[in-house]
Amino acid sequence: VAQLPLSLKDKAWHHICVAWTTRDGKWSAYQDGEQRGAGENLASWHSIKPQGVLILGQEQDTLGGRFDATQAFVGELAQFGVWDHMLAPAEILGLANCTSHLQGNVIQWDDQAVEVFGGASKRSFTACEEGKKA
Ligand SMILES: *[C@@H]1O[C@H](CO)[C@@H](O)[C@H](O)[C@H]1NC(C)=O
Repeated sequence: VAQLPLSLKDKAWHHICVAWTTRDGKWSAYQDGEQRGAGENLASWHSIKPQGVLILGQEQDTLGGRFDATQAFVGELAQFGVWDHMLAPAEILGLANCTSHLQGNVIQWDDQAVEVFGGASKRSFTACEEGKKA
């Protein structure tokens, strides 16, 4: 587990990027295109096997189950992606400032593939369109 040095309490959209490599378990965390923290020895040499299910916004007490509503994320999530390599800082900044629409090469955000449970609902993500108008 890594404690991410992020601050997300102002009810505005933020871009978060977490990079991790199995090599020495090095990780770094970015908020809005700026690096906020880094560390190592996070699950060093651990591999991520294919064919899994990704649970976003809910802590699980057993693998794929025992969901406790009090351990759920409250807020909005959009444009989640996973890459098989570290993105360059300029690529992360481009995603954060809406000039890039790079999609993950392992997992792309696809509304069709996202299933919602509990009180969650889906709606379209417009934060980047709003930014362009300004
Ligand atoms: C947005 O990101 C791109 C790519 O890194 C960068 O070239 C550009 O200067 C950034 N624009 C702003 C307004 O930060």
